[in-house]
Amino acid sequence: NSFEPCDFVLFGTLGDLSRRKLLPSLYQLEKAELIHPDTTIIGVARQDISVDEYREEVKNNIEKFGEKSVCEVTWERLKARLHYLCVDMKDAESYRAFDECVDASRTMVCYLATPPPIYGDICRGLHSCNIIDSSVRVVLEKPIGHDLESSKDINDQVSEYFKESQIYRIDHYLGKETVLNLIALRFANSIFATNWDHNCIDHVQISVAESVGIEGRWGYFDDAGQMRDMVQNHLLQILSLVAMEPPATLDADSIRDEKLKVLKALRPINSSNISETTVRGQYSSGFVKGHEVPGYLEEEDANTRSQTETFVAIKAEIDNWRWAGVPFYLRTGKRLPTKVSEVVIYFKRQPHNLFGDSFQNLPPNKLVIRVQPDEGVEITVMNKVPGLTSSGSMDLQKSKLDLSFSEAFSQDRIPDAYEKLLLEVMLGNQALFVRRDEVEQAWKWVDSILEAWKHTNEPPEPYQAGTWGPVASIGLLARENRSWYESK
Ligand code: BG6
Repeated sequence: NSFEPCDFVLFGTLGDLSRRKLLPSLYQLEKAELIHPDTTIIGVARQDISVDEYREEVKNNIEKFGEKSVCEVTWERLKARLHYLCVDMKDAESYRAFDECVDASRTMVCYLATPPPIYGDICRGLHSCNIIDSSVRVVLEKPIGHDLESSKDINDQVSEYFKESQIYRIDHYLGKETVLNLIALRFANSIFATNWDHNCIDHVQISVAESVGIEGRWGYFDDAGQMRDMVQNHLLQILSLVAMEPPATLDADSIRDEKLKVLKALRPINSSNISETTVRGQYSSGFVKGHEVPGYLEEEDANTRSQTETFVAIKAEIDNWRWAGVPFYLRTGKRLPTKVSEVVIYFKRQPHNLFGDSFQNLPPNKLVIRVQPDEGVEITVMNKVPGLTSSGSMDLQKSKLDLSFSEAFSQDRIPDAYEKLLLEVMLGNQALFVRRDEVEQAWKWVDSILEAWKHTNEPPEPYQAGTWGPVASIGLLARENRSWYESK
């Protein structure tokens, strides 16, 4: 890793992702003095605006989506780095605009915050003006494709011009502190490292719940659905980190090799087992946090016959030595009661109960990793209730060992995932980015589920907005005498 200056080129700089996430994150990095003093930031978009108008726009976005009252000293520093290029990204001629503003002696980072179908055009455009060499890094946003085939097509187009070691595929969940903490928890603590398998763990739950609906993205979302939008990437990445073998080192390929092995070991879900392993749902109108919200089919621009899923629950199994017989239950949906992401590890029950009839079912210990909000880690344990009793028996109570990041590390804010990932790209560290074979393996597993759903020809089950999804999702666990973890 090296802290060196670069030309950071942001394609799609006026688009939604840049405005909401990338520009406010660059501002935070500036504030923390984590951008090299000589780095330049070049925004690229189709609109014909001046650099002053661009800078104004960036400031407005930071105030709207990031820090309400920007720190003027930080802003002045950031402003001085900002340049703007008006480029028609589909027109190779248009890339001549780069001739004057890119310094060939420095590293160039090209962040493609554009729709994936034009990744190929951008690579060709950059190639046509001779600015791609082995020091250029390219950052690709998800979704990479719509299925295995289209993902291969996009990856092929990009790899005509860039080697794998130059390509940084973003999954922003890999930039979240609590997701990264999975590596620390598992491999820096013998208490977990030695208890992390089918001998000690009963099952694992990974839930990523959102209270938002489609937020003006109906066209995109309806094509994707919750399976492509969330499971193919975020949930499978979390699952891989929870389940992977210890990597030899923390370098990019050691980690990615281990994650890939997990994805390869996922038991295929197809027409033969789809009904007992998956539930898909679509929200109808309801109340979320006290506000009445429309159903998915009543949202703006909706196709009222759409059968796209906005909720998915899956029982996934990993066919390898470590995880034999340990289900990983995944659940994610839009318009659920609240925004919360959690990984819950349920340990096995004690083999024998010493505590008498009132504790016939000693509850299992749980390790809860709160990905967001209120980031932290908690463990539920049984404790003796302190005090004396006339019977002399021991009273037990379930209690929590709770480590809240904000209290334990007394930080005023936890960096946004994009801050971490932008920094890693500038440092040239690929460990938190997804390799091509991982993306493709994930698509393979997901494609088979999507295909099986298509064949069942059944619509997704409706669930009322503001509830935890279709009733069948409860049944998925209940028939195995388990239940979903209830967040605080
Ligand atoms: C994105 C999905 O990748 O992740 C969105 O496209 C989703 O649909 C978002 O809302 C959730 O991210 P976060 O960081 O808010 O949990």
